[in-house]
Amino acid sequence: MSRKPLISGNWKMHLNHFEALKLVQELSYAVTVDDVEEVDISLHPPFTDIRTVQTVCESDRLPFHVGAQHCHFEAKGAFTGEVAPSMLAKLNVSYVIVGHSERREVFGETDEMVNAKVKAILANEMIPIMCCGETLDEREAGGAEEKVAGQVKAGLAGVSAEQVGALVIAYEPIWAIGTGKTASAEDAQDMCAFVRSTVSEAFGADAASSVRIQYGGSVKPTNAHELLTQSDIDGALVGGASLEAESFSRIVQYRLSE
Ligand code: PGA
Repeated sequence: MSRKPLISGNWKMHLNHFEALKLVQELSYAVTVDDVEEVDISLHPPFTDIRTVQTVCESDRLPFHVGAQHCHFEAKGAFTGEVAPSMLAKLNVSYVIVGHSERREVFGETDEMVNAKVKAILANEMIPIMCCGETLDEREAGGAEEKVAGQVKAGLAGVSAEQVGALVIAYEPIWAIGTGKTASAEDAQDMCAFVRSTVSEAFGADAASSVRIQYGGSVKPTNAHELLTQSDIDGALVGGASLEAESFSRIVQYRLSE
């Protein structure tokens, strides 16, 4: 089964909507039609930029999927500061990151909340990018697989095998996020293969062979080729290096570099 890689730019809390417009325009020059035949590209700006990014992508027919970094799981209500999945769907958002380690660690998101969000995103016909990953302590104690399997099973509980096969899981070792330390291509491949085997065990072989599994954590133009050519790695969730057109487009074009 061939899986089209998905390269996602997670802008985190960077770039206002003017800066967002500039970056999208720069990216539109740097990314070619050939690139998007080979890979899907999603951009995940802060909420205040989404309408701007959507408008320029649609009016100029740019080959980028609009994404979001987060949402609430309820459809509406008294949740000050939150954004409902249907509001994102209305902006033609295609991919929503859920359960990023920063949301889990800084904002107390639990596996149960992640699971409710995954279901709400699917119910609104968008694709979740569900994140999982271990801390350095957990890795050193030999607990990486247990942690990741637990997050994958809990986050996807009650989701159908067909839906699991169509979504995205991002394996992001927490110690590699924003630190400049990348998992070796071999470790990243091993963990992504482990995520796939966890999906196979819980949802069957078909779901496992079609689910896309991204690696995230200090992905850069210099390591993208090695990471993204591993057999179980189907793309990247990119933070810091997605904030500049030059570096993000070179990651998108990882096939051209060694
Ligand atoms: P980084 O972030 O590429 O800056 O390490 C990745 C992420 O948090 O998704």
